[in-house]
Amino acid sequence: MRPGVGESRKQKAARLERETAELLGLAPGAPVQKAESDDAKTSRAVRAGEGILAGDKALARLLETALRHSERVERYTHGFHSYPAALHPDAARDLLTIGEGRVLDPFCGGGTVLVEALAAGRESLGCDLGAIPCLVARARTTRTDEAARTHLRSVARGAAEVALRAQEPPSDAPPDVQRAYQPHVAAELHAIRNFIGNDPLLKAVLSAIVVKVSRRTSDTHQALNDEERPEGTTATLFHKKAREFARMLETIEAFPAPARVHREDAREVRLSGYGLVVTSPPYPGVYDYAPIQSLRRYWLGVDDSSTLRDEIGSRREFRAGRAEALTAWKSDTARWLKAASRALDPGGRLCVIVGDGQVGSKRIDSWTVHDEAARALGLRWVARASVERLDLGFGTVRWEHAGVWEKPGV
Ligand SMILES: C[S@@+](CC[C@H](N)C(=O)[O-])C[C@H]1O[C@@H](n2cnc3c(N)ncnc32)[C@H](O)[C@@H]1O
Repeated sequence: MRPGVGESRKQKAARLERETAELLGLAPGAPVQKAESDDAKTSRAVRAGEGILAGDKALARLLETALRHSERVERYTHGFHSYPAALHPDAARDLLTIGEGRVLDPFCGGGTVLVEALAAGRESLGCDLGAIPCLVARARTTRTDEAARTHLRSVARGAAEVALRAQEPPSDAPPDVQRAYQPHVAAELHAIRNFIGNDPLLKAVLSAIVVKVSRRTSDTHQALNDEERPEGTTATLFHKKAREFARMLETIEAFPAPARVHREDAREVRLSGYGLVVTSPPYPGVYDYAPIQSLRRYWLGVDDSSTLRDEIGSRREFRAGRAEALTAWKSDTARWLKAASRALDPGGRLCVIVGDGQVGSKRIDSWTVHDEAARALGLRWVARASVERLDLGFGTVRWEHAGVWEKPGV
């Protein structure tokens, strides 16, 4: 069989694992971690091979350690909801130690940095363009009391009971949504959605299961499989997920400092008073964050048209025209870095985690673009670590970088 021809996903993963082990000089059978689920997205990317460390030695080592975390983490609300290219929770925890004061994450996604800031007792703000990531990040950082968690469990039980008897799939579902579900699964989701109304925590629970119960292969792959899901399992999963979420929320109840989430374009934020920015912006040409949320957009009834328009570095833009997309992404990078730098107090630090892009066979060097833009803003570069990263999902080995810059003091 020629590589890539007629291969199943499993065969492809095994081949890539073999080829990458050779490429990175690992012994045959060396531990290359496999995908478990989208929740373990960061674990799918194996850190191996050479690293580049530069600048302040201790800080560069800390950055390297942060980039290489890959173990599954189950503390707080991590693992409740999958999110593409989520930062590893241990990386977020490590990176928060490099600066003091209030924390800003202008590309907060599912809120990993905010959860760790909460745990560290640090006040934080996360921004994201997407309605779905904002809903997820807000839910994952909500400090609840026992009454709120009892409410969550009991509404979820009620919704599951109604869903177990549901017969009617929604009549307004667009064709792509209809195709993605067996009719009884769509009927159960429809009943759950109607029962929970606008409650943000319950909507986050619904959001956590809508891709799992669909025929979609994963969060990031639109392809459909023909897996059968027995009647009633969607209702049961929703109830189970809500109980699990209530238990997770209990573990963050007592954290004192608030985490806020704004739905905002990172290029436009007008903020001040932050001691530390920790963020992972989109890698150029790697993901389409907004389109892959189409199922959630429908079930949660959110309008994400601004995300489709304003998302930076998207894969679709790079595919439409590499040269134009590269120019736009460089200018967008300079714009969001300027907004982030403005938000920093004098002496404050900026930490960026970003991977190289891959468009066709061409690599896009993310490090240089960020470093040049940060220096052009008058930020002082402090440290860097770059490591080779195997991404089994994309079948590529690319460099991932972490850098720290400091805003000059008064
Ligand atoms: C690499 S992900 C961040 C993941 C996050 N660190 C986490 O742990 O879940 C990049 C995020 O940037 C967001 N994004 C893309 N363009 C944006 C923009 N112009 N302003 C704000 N957020 C944007 C995407 O919606 C996506 O959630």
